[in-house]
Amino acid sequence: MINFLIFGPPGSGKGTQSVKLAGKFNLRHLSTGDMLRAEITAGTELGGKMSSIMSKGELVPDEVVIEMIAAKIDSTKGVAGFLFDGFPRTVAQTEELEKMLNARGMKIDSMLVLDVDHDELVKRLIARAEQSGRPDDKDPVVIENRIDVYKAKTEPIIDYCRKQGIYQPVNGMGTIDEIFGRLSREMKKLI
Ligand code: AP5
Ligand code: MG
Repeated sequence: MINFLIFGPPGSGKGTQSVKLAGKFNLRHLSTGDMLRAEITAGTELGGKMSSIMSKGELVPDEVVIEMIAAKIDSTKGVAGFLFDGFPRTVAQTEELEKMLNARGMKIDSMLVLDVDHDELVKRLIARAEQSGRPDDKDPVVIENRIDVYKAKTEPIIDYCRKQGIYQPVNGMGTIDEIFGRLSREMKKLI
């Protein structure tokens, strides 16, 4: 099994690229954002509790997403590995993910970080707000808060992974296909 983190600020293209990469390399795509939105859509108690945090662009508690991910890892069979999208988002989540993987004879093999200019992030998210129905895309103040939360709480994971020699920056500017080509080339080096 080979496990990748796809990493980058809101709007950097993690979800878009993950779907394509998971198909190409037979990886299980796990997005905690998608899982949380599915809880909200299904009207569960958990979804109800998390929706106001998400609509402000704040992070939900670490234990909520860790539990979701653990359940998915254990129920997945027949894939070459995992592609984690939007998780981990704090150093504490990273440590928990490592523990979870180590206990199952796996590790984080590579962290692919999409580098995208701030103005391009905002442009993409505002464009998506039209069709996505995501409340966190509708308000430019919330978009800026999501980017600030990324810088304060999530970006420190890059240093953590750099020390472990698994940090791989990727240019996230350009067309979806160009970026897919760059990410695929990095993944092929390891698969
Ligand atoms: P999450 O769902 O993870 O959202 P996010 O990180 O804010 O990022 P996005 O999904 O908005 O962006 P993306 O990088 O996936 O880009 P995408 O491919 O969609 O999290 C949402 C919330 O859930 C969080 O704020 C938090 O509250 C909570 N949460 C989730 N995980 C958590 C965790 N682990 N811990 C705590 N809380 C958590 O692309 C964006 C748009 O750009 C799309 O419209 C796309 O079509 C377009 N696009 C993509 N690539 C290109 C390109 N090359 N050129 C032009 N347009 C492009
Ligand atoms: Mg996403």
